[in-house]
Amino acid sequence: MFQPDLLKNTVALITGGGTGICRGIALAFAAHGCDVAITSRKIEHLEPTRDELRARGVRAFAKAADVRDPAAVNDAVAAVVTELGRIDILVNGAAGNFICLAEHLSPNGFGTVVDIDLKGTFNVSKAALPHLKARGGSVINISATLPYLGTMGQSHAAAAKAGIDSLTRTLACEWGPLGIRVNGIAPGPIEGTEGVTRLTNEKSRAGAIAQCPLGRLGTVDDIANASLYLASGAASYVNGVTLVVDGGLWLRSARILGE
Ligand code: HXC
Repeated sequence: MFQPDLLKNTVALITGGGTGICRGIALAFAAHGCDVAITSRKIEHLEPTRDELRARGVRAFAKAADVRDPAAVNDAVAAVVTELGRIDILVNGAAGNFICLAEHLSPNGFGTVVDIDLKGTFNVSKAALPHLKARGGSVINISATLPYLGTMGQSHAAAAKAGIDSLTRTLACEWGPLGIRVNGIAPGPIEGTEGVTRLTNEKSRAGAIAQCPLGRLGTVDDIANASLYLASGAASYVNGVTLVVDGGLWLRSARILGE
């Protein structure tokens, strides 16, 4: 149910917020009264979304920063607080990915994705902690269902995402007493996103639709709605979970007995 004041008087920082799933989360938060800061490596990926956010009547701020660089992350967090005054919600969504079998993947290729996804999630969470602590808050880490089974060509991303889920559980325990809930979302394939467009093809998308118990790919709104829930008071006793939002797809991705 749409509640325009659901996140009123709060500020969210969303990494990777210029495009894809995280752009959708940013717009949904703004539609529910939240002021929003977005970061990514390239300012040109951020400015159009920042303008869309402002058009929804909230304050919005964009700052380029590479989540792999702790100093740049600290600068970005400080700039968000200067511009918007506080941080109540952090969405760690910045991610890198490509398909490559481990046999052909270089150590730097593996490390690059772990650095962006897993270490980036740690870097931004740590930088935002003093501000989240000030009033209590909510962290949402975007992972994936890739590590639940042996997804070939995804050794780097699956390991990084599994690490993120582990970090979610640990920080939920460490930061819960500080009034900060830490949860995650593991999206299935989300139609129209760069990740799915680049990493899948027509055949694999059709296969996913056929296999999904709900018979479709996910939408950006599916993930934005889950984020709204986890960020809001509706989830005030939810801490340390990674909410799978994939229509049940991964459950059907195991081999079917007899086939
Ligand atoms: C093999 C590759 C590669 C590829 C990069 N590398 N692309 N190896 N196959 N296709 C290797 C490089 O050779 C290099 O190793 C190392 O990775 C670093 O590459 P750089 O180009 O120098 O790094 P950088 O520009 O910092 O980042 C590269 C990148 C990033 C990780 C590919 O640009 C990226 O992912 N951009 C896309 C962002 C995106 O789409 N995010 C959404 C992800 S979707 P060497 O050894 O040569 O130095 C997602 C959800 C998954 O995560 C679920 C889907 C169903």
